[in-house]
Amino acid sequence: MDAAEQATRIKILHAMGLGPMWLSRYASDETAPVVATPAFADTPPAVVLADAGLAAPVSLVDVPPAPVTVVSEPVESVSGMSWETLQAEVASCVACGLCKGRAKTVFGAGDTAATWLFVGEGPGYNENIQGEPFVGAAGQLLDNMLHALGIRRGDRAYIANVVKCRPTDSNGKDRPPTPAEIQACLPYLRRQIALIQPKVIVALGKTAAVALLGVDPETPVSQLRGKEHHLNGVPMVVTYHPAYLLRKPVEKSKAWRDLCLARKALPGSA
Ligand code: URA
Repeated sequence: MDAAEQATRIKILHAMGLGPMWLSRYASDETAPVVATPAFADTPPAVVLADAGLAAPVSLVDVPPAPVTVVSEPVESVSGMSWETLQAEVASCVACGLCKGRAKTVFGAGDTAATWLFVGEGPGYNENIQGEPFVGAAGQLLDNMLHALGIRRGDRAYIANVVKCRPTDSNGKDRPPTPAEIQACLPYLRRQIALIQPKVIVALGKTAAVALLGVDPETPVSQLRGKEHHLNGVPMVVTYHPAYLLRKPVEKSKAWRDLCLARKALPGSA
C-alpha cells in the first residue's frame, strides 16, 4: 500500500471511530502512523445509558398512555401505499401492543431514493422521544460508518427499523421486539423497501437480519454476516448492530469488512 492509500485508510478508520486496533490489524508494517483518539467517547452519556436500558426511565415514557384499541391482525393493506400515506398509517398504527407505550413512532430517516438502506431493530429510549432512528451513541457510530462509506443520512442513505415503536419490558427498559410484533410491523418495512428501491441493504444486527431473511430467530449474526444475501433481487449484507459494536469494539474490523462487501455488492462497483 502506498503512502496516499495508507493516508486514506487512516482517515476512513478514524471517521468510523476505529483507532490503532484496526490499523495494527491491517497496516502493512508496524511503523505505520497511529491515529489519535477514537471519534466517540468510551463512556456513554447518561442518555445513552438510558437508551441501553441501564438507567431508570424518566417521566415522558411513564405518562399513562391514552387508551387505544389494539388490532391483533398484522397490517396487510400497505402494499399499494404512497410514502405519505404509509407514513400517516405508521403514525396512527395500533396493529400491536407497542402502540400503547409509545411517545412517537419512528418511521425512518434519510434519502427516500437512497442507494443504501440500513435496517436496525427498533426505537430505543431516545428514539421514542425524538421520533428519529439511531440517535445517541449507537447512532453516532452508525453515522461514522456511513461517513466511512462516503454517504450520510439523507445523502444516498436511508435508515429504518424493523419495528416502528419502542419495545419495553415490565421495568420500562428496552427489549427486542417479539416475533408477533415483528410480523405486525414488517409490512411497513417491506413497503419502505419497495418505495425506496435501494441498491443494497445492510441489516444491522440479528433482529433485522432474521426478520428480513425469514430465517430461524435463533440464528447468530456470525452465521449470517460475511456473505451476500438477496432480498427480492436486492443484495443484502448482515453486520453487527452498532450498539453491539460499542460493547465489543474488537468486532469493528468484521463490521468494516461487511460494509466493504456491501459496497462491492452494489451494481456496477466491480
Ligand atoms: N437501535 C436500533 O436498532 N434502532 C434505532 O433506531 C435505535 C437503536
